[in-house]
Amino acid sequence: MAIQDEKEDSSVDVSNLPILTSMPKVYSGCCLALSSRLLCYLRTTLLSNPGPVLSVGSGYGLLEAIMLAPPYDMPITGVEVHPSSNRYLPPTHHRVVPGSRFMDSLAEQASVWMFVYPKRVGLITDYISRHGAGNLKAIIWMGPRADWEDYRVCFATRTQALSWSVDAKSADQAGGAAWEMVAVATKLT
Ligand SMILES: C[S@@+](CC[C@H](N)C(=O)[O-])C[C@H]1O[C@@H](n2cnc3c(N)ncnc32)[C@H](O)[C@@H]1O
Repeated sequence: MAIQDEKEDSSVDVSNLPILTSMPKVYSGCCLALSSRLLCYLRTTLLSNPGPVLSVGSGYGLLEAIMLAPPYDMPITGVEVHPSSNRYLPPTHHRVVPGSRFMDSLAEQASVWMFVYPKRVGLITDYISRHGAGNLKAIIWMGPRADWEDYRVCFATRTQALSWSVDAKSADQAGGAAWEMVAVATKLT
């Protein structure tokens, strides 16, 4: 067997990925409406916060696989609860935790954490308390507009002596759907 066959494959099977258009659309495999414009917005956001990205609660991993694959080429890893529903991310870019109260220690090295349609506010505050003082530069939250009121408190209070500058906008201003929000919280201290 050739040596490269023994290595774990880190490439995304792009034949499984939808071709995004400039119009946001919900695909099975991701709660968030996706578009090529939204992906460009995410790429620009990550370019100003360079380093590894950890998506907490990546689900099927569709958005993360699109981010990882060409032409976007973002250095993202997804983490899910065991048994994982992951379908799209290669094993090298996918991790599991044993239960929904567990956190992945990769958060300590990541520059950006992404939470897309998280189910629990406490997951973000727990991550900030445990790993926020690490390499973290920014947190991207994306979800339903109606949920943002609950999640904005994560960045309004000082947890572990950290404070944030928050840019929250209707997702349609970033290429997404009008019923969703995109918030980028940049760590100040
Ligand atoms: C509503 S789903 C969203 C999935 C995906 N982000 C999407 O938009 O399609 C929330 C996901 O968070 C995962 N989750 C909950 N607690 C978690 C934890 N501690 N670590 C990793 N994933 C977690 C759940 O298993 C679930 O798949």
